[in-house]
Amino acid sequence: MAGIENLTLSHFRSHRRAEMQLDGRPVALFGANGAGKTNILEAVSLLSPGRGLRRAMAEDLARRPEALGWKITARFGAGASAALQDLATWAEPGRSRDVRINGKAATQSALAQVVRMVWLVPAMDRLWIEGAEGRRRFLDRLTLSLAPDHADLALAYEKAMRERNRLLKDQITDPGWYQALEARMAASGAGLMANRRHAVARLMAAQNAGQSAFPTADLVLIGPQADPMPMSEADLATALAESRRRDLAAGRSLTGPHRADLGAIFRAKGMPAAQCSTGEQKALLIALLLANARALWQDTGTAPILLLDEVAAHLDSNRRAALYDELLGLGAQAFMTGTGAELFDSLAGQAQYFEVVDQEGLSTVLEKDGT
Ligand SMILES: Nc1ncnc2c1ncn2[C@@H]1O[C@H](COP(=O)(O)OP(=O)(O)O)[C@@H](O)[C@H]1O
Ligand SMILES: [Mg+2]
Repeated sequence: MAGIENLTLSHFRSHRRAEMQLDGRPVALFGANGAGKTNILEAVSLLSPGRGLRRAMAEDLARRPEALGWKITARFGAGASAALQDLATWAEPGRSRDVRINGKAATQSALAQVVRMVWLVPAMDRLWIEGAEGRRRFLDRLTLSLAPDHADLALAYEKAMRERNRLLKDQITDPGWYQALEARMAASGAGLMANRRHAVARLMAAQNAGQSAFPTADLVLIGPQADPMPMSEADLATALAESRRRDLAAGRSLTGPHRADLGAIFRAKGMPAAQCSTGEQKALLIALLLANARALWQDTGTAPILLLDEVAAHLDSNRRAALYDELLGLGAQAFMTGTGAELFDSLAGQAQYFEVVDQEGLSTVLEKDGT
């Protein structure tokens, strides 16, 4: 099987020790509010680079009141990727998180090379109407699953930008200080934009090629004021140099790939996503996740791990069944949460069911017969 075969959480949020044996089918987690379901999805999300699906600080992840270190381990089935057997990530109190791939110390970025993962959480319900940051982050997560070098490029870009911002803050005006940093920003930034552009094209192609019960979104990569973004290394370097005076006044870098935005149009209605109904906006996000899964399935033969938090709650039973059908068709290991098992009824026999229960601040996870 592809995907996670064995997952353990220790001293992670409300879980003192949880272990799940998985067989590659979709995973339905159900239980009351606050039972600890999203915590499990968050644990899985930390098997990819970054701060996970809640963007939490490492110290918030340790189970309270003990506040010892926390640890997550995953053993993968043989079909996932021949090179990947197991992953571990953990953090000791007061330290940033460590990663081990097949028993060897590794960087967080290296996780992207071995695990493809995308997610949808209720906080993204307002993604199309809020600021660009959320959309950029969403696009970057999809991009990372299609282009694993995206994580290292983002690190290189951010590091150079931090140094440039320091110069701007200190009101350094000598161009000599800026040129080398801007060259680094332009080189990594062009890589970021190329990856994003490739991802947008790949998502469009996958939507156009596949049958789906979810609507098609026409996507466009834009700048902060819906203006075109510089894409090439040379154009980026020029844009940065030209923006210096403005940036000095602001004390930070106002132009570049860190300001990119994702525009989406609901194709059937020709309507910008922000003006669509709440349900349509959610459907567009699901459509993009499914398109991403189809693209990866075509490129690599394996769908990504999908983390779908409370996704069933917003869909009527037909749409829900359609979503499950598409996930089953892709053979995707989807981790889904919902308050009641009935939200997963149409998956009966085709998914693994786990009930998550809270007992005075301690979560327990129990596999249930799903038929
Ligand atoms: N570091 C922590 N230590 C112990 N409990 C935590 C920690 N962080 C969050 N929790 C608890 O986890 C619960 C929320 O779990 P969550 O997975 O979000 O629930 P749900 O099942 O509704 O998705 C809350 O009761 C919260 O108090
Ligand atoms: Mg939750």
